[in-house]
Amino acid sequence: MKLTEEIRKQMRITVDYTNMTDKYLGDKGYSEKALDAHKKLAKAAHAYVAENRGKDELFMGWTELPYNQDAIVADILATAKLVRRKFEAFVVLGIGGSALGPSMAFTALCHLHYNDLPKSKRRGPKFYVEDNVDPVRMKELLDVIDVTKTCFNVISKSGATSETMAQYLIISDLLTKAGVNIKENVIFTTDASRGNLVKISRELGGVKSYVLPDGVGGRFSELSPVGLLPAAVLGIDIKALLKGAAYMDKICRSSDFRKNPALLAATLQYIAMNDGKNIGVLMPYSDNLRYVSDWYAQLWAESLGKNVRLDGTPCHVGQTPVKALGVTDQHSQVQLYTEGPFDKVVTFLSVERYREKSPIPHGCETIPDVSFLGGHTMEELIRAENKATAYALTKAGRLNYTIRIPEINEFTLGELLYFFELQTAYAGAMFNIDTYNQPGVEAGKKATFALLGKPGYDLQRRDLDEAASDPAYLV
Ligand code: PA5
Repeated sequence: MKLTEEIRKQMRITVDYTNMTDKYLGDKGYSEKALDAHKKLAKAAHAYVAENRGKDELFMGWTELPYNQDAIVADILATAKLVRRKFEAFVVLGIGGSALGPSMAFTALCHLHYNDLPKSKRRGPKFYVEDNVDPVRMKELLDVIDVTKTCFNVISKSGATSETMAQYLIISDLLTKAGVNIKENVIFTTDASRGNLVKISRELGGVKSYVLPDGVGGRFSELSPVGLLPAAVLGIDIKALLKGAAYMDKICRSSDFRKNPALLAATLQYIAMNDGKNIGVLMPYSDNLRYVSDWYAQLWAESLGKNVRLDGTPCHVGQTPVKALGVTDQHSQVQLYTEGPFDKVVTFLSVERYREKSPIPHGCETIPDVSFLGGHTMEELIRAENKATAYALTKAGRLNYTIRIPEINEFTLGELLYFFELQTAYAGAMFNIDTYNQPGVEAGKKATFALLGKPGYDLQRRDLDEAASDPAYLV
């Protein structure tokens, strides 16, 4: 993509918060005065992020990913070329931050039925992201791939995540039994020097590996090799993705939330959360963007769901992210959004130009209830339904705002990712919490180790046995 300044401007993502204001929502909306009362806090959050950007010790290395990866990108592009030439399938083994980003970019930027296309119409091998240990899913993946002709990208920062390591054990065993040298068919994405994948690589005599940088946590890693390698294998323009992220970074340099869309969204959400809006719905009107909601759900939930502030005082903050899809969920959840409790903020992701228009032909002329659709396009229809839903919510006094995306491409996806990462960083700074840790996730990981007999977890094992389900409460 040739990115002149004019094209960048045309591709700029914007936030329309009309339907959050008292002007349009009456007493259910927020006044400019209420917003202004948060100006100082927003400025301080902006300053915190600006001053600490790039600091590995604070896990803020993600801010620099659009700028510091030239050599890595070149290496990834070369590897992706080899993978495309050599393999029929590419499988990501990972979970959480190591899987949601690759799934999201795949769905956003590739054909919606990519794996069903003939080879000549795909830009890369068949693609799978295996982010669960459902035994059926593993078995049935093996029914559709030939492991000897598949490249497995094992992504794990710690190399200690039970799900990913169990998958690795299964795959490495199968490769060995098939007479394949494991290291020919795996690529690791992991820490530079710590963790089990580093040890495994050493034992295998060196596996092609990419580094998940020290200061980049799982959920902020999509623009690192975690996301870039799978994307490059799919033929996605990863340079444009990074340029989009850099552009959003530039747009968000202002400490005035009326000039900084990510700071504005963070401030609106912060006000809403303090006003009891404990649910944040993300509703893209695009199948291509449906997994943006999954990726965002982890980012927002794991980053903000905390019980202690940085100064040690207790708190219970966060907002439950809900994934919805326009228009599908208009016929499922929107009834609740319109008439249920006033506990939500709905964020629409609206696309201005879809990559297809899909004209609706004339027909059924004797039935006006149907024939009125003829002559329009499905693009018109989906956009009208998006507008209509925002209107209906607003009429019902429901907080909602719209992130407008001119079209879906690498550049705008990069913008969108960086926008949400910044929004999360600002919101975390406003709450004065550690946005980048996840002690709640670690607790579950350790309990799993104990249950499956990992050495060193005997005490926790005993505790878990005592906490076993009580037959007195079994109905
Ligand atoms: O955001 C996070 O840090 C987590 O969701 C991790 O990505 C997830 O738990 C997987 O961890 P790891 O990459 O160590 O396997």
